[in-house]
Formats: sequence, C-alpha cells, structure tokens
Amino acid sequence: MPGVRWTGTGRAELSPQLDNHQLSRLVDTNDEWIVTRTGIRTRRLVAAGQGLTDLAVQAAQQALDAAGFTPLDVELLILATSTPDDLFGSASLVQERLGAKRAVAFDLTAACSGFVFGAVTAAQFIRTGAYGTTLVIGADVLSRWVDWQDRRTCILFGDGAGAVVLNPGVTDHLLGFELQNDGSQNACLTLAYQGEDRPLIDELTIPAGTYQPIFMNGQEVYKFAVRRVPDVIEKALFRAGLTSEQVDHFVLHQANQRILDAVAEKLGVPPARMLSNLAHYGNTSAASIPLMLDEAVRDGRVQPGQTLVLAGFGAGLTLGALVCRWG
Ligand code: UT7
Repeated sequence: MPGVRWTGTGRAELSPQLDNHQLSRLVDTNDEWIVTRTGIRTRRLVAAGQGLTDLAVQAAQQALDAAGFTPLDVELLILATSTPDDLFGSASLVQERLGAKRAVAFDLTAACSGFVFGAVTAAQFIRTGAYGTTLVIGADVLSRWVDWQDRRTCILFGDGAGAVVLNPGVTDHLLGFELQNDGSQNACLTLAYQGEDRPLIDELTIPAGTYQPIFMNGQEVYKFAVRRVPDVIEKALFRAGLTSEQVDHFVLHQANQRILDAVAEKLGVPPARMLSNLAHYGNTSAASIPLMLDEAVRDGRVQPGQTLVLAGFGAGLTLGALVCRWG
C-alpha cells in the first residue's frame, strides 16, 4: 500500500489590505480591542474582479512549482472552500484554469476544518493507489459574506488561499488523524440560506431567498475550540503513537491568538512551537492552515523529517487534527 508524502506548498498573493485602524472607520471598534482580544492587526482581501478561483489557481501553481510537478501530473484536486464562485462548485474551473487536464476535481466543504478534512480525504485515495499526485487547496473569500456592520464578526475575517501537494511514497508520512463533528452546535456559526415561501403556481409554494451574512456566537465557538481542539489533537497523536513533546510544530487554524495560546497551554506546549501568522491575515477559514504551513516551509522553520500537527475547527461545528512527518 503506498504511503503519503508532503512535497510542496504554495499560496496566493493578495494585495489589498484592511488594517484595524481602517476597520474602525467602518464600525465602532479600535486597534487595541482587536489586538488584545484576537491578535489580529490586519487582513488581506480579494481585489476588485478577483474571485475564489483565481486565488486557488495561484496557490496551486505555486505548490506544484515547489514540489517540482506540472499541472499535467495532477491526478486528484480537492478544493476545500465554503465560498466557491459557483454553488455548483469551483474545483472544475480551477482544474481547467490550472491546466490539470488529467485530474478529477471536486469541492469539499468543512468550513475552517476544510483543509484538514481535505488532506485526510486525499490521503485515502493515495493509500488505495487510486490516485497519484494530489493537490489539496484551502481557499476562502469570506469578505463576500461578512456583515460589515457587525463588529463582532467583521474584525476577524480575511481572504486567502494556500495549497499543498501530496504524493505516493514508500513510507507513510500521515501518521494519524481524528475528524469530528458536533451538529448540535450548528447554530453557533452559520452562513445560512433563508427563504420565504412564495407561490410558484396556484397550488404550489416554494421557499425563495438567498444566503444570509455570517452569524457567529463568538463566545460559544471560543469555548468549543478551547475545550475540544486539545482533545482531537491528543486522539490524533495517540493514533500516531506520539506525544505532544515529540511534535516540532503545531499548525492550527488561525482564528484567535487567545485560542492558540490556550490550546498550547492545555497541551503543555511552549508557545514557540504553536505557529502563528494571524496578525497579518486574520481568520482566512480553509486557507489559514496551508498559508501558515507555506510561510513556515519557505522561511525554513519547517524542515523535512519534522513532525507536525495540523488542526482545524469551525462551522459545522467541525474539527479535525492530523499528525504528519514533513516531506
Ligand atoms: O473560524 C471560525 C472559528 N471562529 C472563532 O474561533 C471565533 C471564536 N471567538 C472569538 O474569537 C471571540 O469570541 C471574539 C474575538 C469573536 C470576541 O471576543 P470576546 O472576548 O468573546 O468578546 P465578547 O463577544 O464577549 O464581547 C466583549 C465586549 C462586549 O461589550 P459588553 O457587552 O461587554 O459591553 C462587546 O459588545 O466587547 C464588545 N465588542 C467589541 N468592542 C470593540 C465586541 N466586538 C467588539 C469590537 N470592538 N470589534
């Protein structure tokens, strides 16, 4: 049975920035509150005319370049996103624009856990021998769905895309994983469709409407993350036969610095091993883990052979962790 190897990372470069001071011109907030409560200083947003597909293609191409593969090598492409350009899915268009003509491609929705769910899904196809070179892209444009008058949510989110290439290998570098859902808390974080009953013909009424902006009960999601993320990481580590002391870097979904600190404390991990870049990007949903990973791989913090934990959590509610050996 082939194993899974991690062979390259990439990202989309986004130019427009919105810092906390600019945000305070939009809603009643200030830099000090946002930095103290979240650690976020600025976030990147898509440019006018730029879509989710554009970001995903850029990140994917960069990851393939880093891994030394071409789009024609790709056999499977998984696009983890909650904000496709098209509700029918954006993966096919990414496949086309990238020139990954041989790849089967599909969207996967698991909100901020999407990249971890996507990587674990990809690994199953690689392990069975069904597909070889695989792209897992995490991309989201939440700025489209943020209520820019709601100071409890609009300060958190940014746009972004990151990608990782996975390949079959002799040894398996996916050492363990754990995925979970808690639908009982679904209402805590939603981007929900809301329709009103409208008559279609005399005897038939159907709901017609559209998606509503992001709603979040921040305190409940915060408590969920701090309580459940250490547990899901411990379970993934148990499957890998490792302890948190043996992990070189923890790459968690970048939602709030206080969540990263609290999880590090619960796991007994020094803060330096809990990677963080959310000061510069905010919460980019499915993109946050591959963005952090790409940064740490390119600046040399993450080295081949090191042990990493990737963990995501968010709407659903969903959460998941995987343990991998880099490279
Ligand atoms: O990726 C999905 C996962 N999402 C998350 O992980 C989000 C998790 N939750 C959080 O990160 C935090 O709950 C927030 C950062 C969203 C909020 O922080 P908090 O410490 O839970 O603040 P809070 O909602 O309890 O609000 C505290 C106070 C309130 O004032 P009062 O009622 O105590 O007078 C809010 O009205 O802060 C006020 N407030 C603000 N003040 C200035 C809320 N938002 C703002 C703001 N600027 N932007």
